[in-house]
Amino acid sequence: MAKSKGDITDIKLAPPGKKRILFADRDMPVLSLIRDRFEAKKPLKGIRIGACMHVTSETANLMRTLKAGGAEVALCASNPLSTQDETAASLVADFGVPVFARRGENVETFYKHLNAVLDNSPNITMDDGADLVNLLHGKRQKEAAGVLASMEETTTGVIRLRAMHAHNELKFPVIAVNDATTKHLFDNRYGTGQSTLDGVVRATDILLAGKKVVVCGYGWCGRGVASRARGGGAQVTVTEIDPLKALEAVMDGFDVKPMSEAAGYGELFVTVTGNKHVLRAEHFKKMKHGAIVCNSGHFDVEIDIPALEKMSSKVNKQIRVNVDEYIVGKKSIYLLADGRLVNLAAATGHPASVMDMSFATQALCAEWAVKNGKKFKIEVHDVPKAIEDEVAALKLKSMGVKIDKLTPDQVKYLASYSEGT
Ligand code: ADE
Repeated sequence: MAKSKGDITDIKLAPPGKKRILFADRDMPVLSLIRDRFEAKKPLKGIRIGACMHVTSETANLMRTLKAGGAEVALCASNPLSTQDETAASLVADFGVPVFARRGENVETFYKHLNAVLDNSPNITMDDGADLVNLLHGKRQKEAAGVLASMEETTTGVIRLRAMHAHNELKFPVIAVNDATTKHLFDNRYGTGQSTLDGVVRATDILLAGKKVVVCGYGWCGRGVASRARGGGAQVTVTEIDPLKALEAVMDGFDVKPMSEAAGYGELFVTVTGNKHVLRAEHFKKMKHGAIVCNSGHFDVEIDIPALEKMSSKVNKQIRVNVDEYIVGKKSIYLLADGRLVNLAAATGHPASVMDMSFATQALCAEWAVKNGKKFKIEVHDVPKAIEDEVAALKLKSMGVKIDKLTPDQVKYLASYSEGT
């Protein structure tokens, strides 16, 4: 039977999609260098890769790289609203990658597409939110036996995978790509910081300067959103449940409050906690007229939308693209992008230059997993330091930034414990 080319919205969208992919590629020099090496050496020859990621031009360049390495690749979306249909079309038409993703697909189609990727019996999977791994530990356990390793791109996914491992449930090795410094320090912080505000501004056209912005969660993503909002002139408040992170936010100069107080104070709320119902009925009740709420965490559970719906007398859908108005008593609360990742649903996700590092790390981890083969221990592996160092060094080189080297005397000093005051 001929292999499926996927299921996308419209193949005729390919020409602008290709332009976007190649434009993003200019800003992905590290990935592009790896692609050249993969093209020559074919380290992924004979490997089937199934990826469930945001279907963006940056992801397209990762898929091209894996294919250049000799892998057979299939891609589905990790979120129903983040797919760029023209990118999907070009991946199929111009780069021969089967894609199963349609922007706005319903839950049933979303899962049909995940299953279609698993129909190809991948040896390596790449997840952004652990959806493929979940299926491989549930309805698709038969396919799990052939999986050499799986890579996880996001904080939420890594938390789930670590929980599975702690319960002895993990059926194959996984690599916590999210936890690599070359990933979260840059992608989660600067990528989420910029793209979240980009999504908010595209959806609403609000002025950030002077805006009372409440950032819920001070993990790497929250740190990024808070610092970018402050850079835009907003008055930023942080909410946290972790005393250390809260303390860090205080010392970074942010106002820190419990949500019970922040709710009535803020004008724009951004959830980035990875947890559910961070904004709920008790908070909506306190919010000001005109409050804007949005989420940049992986799942759409951070804002309790059913509760907001229940307490609203009316919902005016799409008063602007990606903006719904909820009428609660005499006030309006505006929800962006259905509470889904606002940076990908209302904008185009993180810029290519930061995804360059995340996806270079992904590509090198795929190569590492293949090298390990069946010897790879079933656990959650950290990305090796050698891969992190290679990605960082290549990125610096591409930016024209040079750094110092230790002198032999300094090497000796660092290795000794006898030299002191
Ligand atoms: N996650 C956040 N931004 C992204 C992007 N541009 N491409 C793929 N995944 C992403």
